[in-house]
This record gives sequence, structure tokens and C-alpha cells, in this order.
Amino acid sequence: MDEDAAASAGVGWTPVCNLDRLRADTIIRVNVASLDLLVIWNDGNVVACDRACPHEQADLALGEVRAGRLFCPRHAASFDLRDGAIDRGWPSPPLRLYPIRITGGQICVDAREQQAPR
Ligand code: FES
Repeated sequence: MDEDAAASAGVGWTPVCNLDRLRADTIIRVNVASLDLLVIWNDGNVVACDRACPHEQADLALGEVRAGRLFCPRHAASFDLRDGAIDRGWPSPPLRLYPIRITGGQICVDAREQQAPR
């Protein structure tokens, strides 16, 4: 089955939370395919990403979302929620993002592969 056929068949898409709950809470911890992820409300957009900071593995669930960026609670570096890029000058790979889709108010994440940068 190719990727488009798998997606349309719902293969790989895991329901993780309700959109109304995410709007209220901003950051929600989820587990998809044994991966610890976050689902984030970012100014009207939903983003799914790794829970562990790619710099030194801090828990980004304790971070803060401001102006389209997720701020790490440990060293305060921030990640662009469009593509996962970290602030310039930090020796770290980008934050890994995952594809999401919303069906009937339910947010689903596909943790099989990383989302292409926007
Ligand atoms: S652990 Fe997140 S910026 Fe260092």
C-alpha cells in the first residue's frame, strides 16, 4: 500500500485528543506508537512534535508557546513550530514534527515519519 492509500485508509493515523481540549490546554502529552509526543495549539494551528528537547532532552511539555515558537524550560532555546528549527547558534538538531489531521473535532497524528518543513 503506498502512502496516499494508507493515509486515506486511516493506516498510521492515531487519534490523540479532542480539538476543544487542546484549545483549552495548549500543550497535551500523548503517546503514539510508543513515542512520547506533544500536541500543541499554536495560534489556530495544531502541531505534533517530540516531547524531548533535541538539545539535552528536557521535557518540552513544561515549556511555553509564544509567537509561534515552543520555548524549552531548561535553557530557554526556542523552536519554530512551522519547521522545528531551533534558535540560531544552538548546537542542536531541529525539533521533530509529525503530520496531523483533524476529523470531526478529533486530532490524529501519524508518527510513522517526520513532517516535511513548511
Ligand atoms: S534542553 Fe532544551 S534547550 Fe537545552
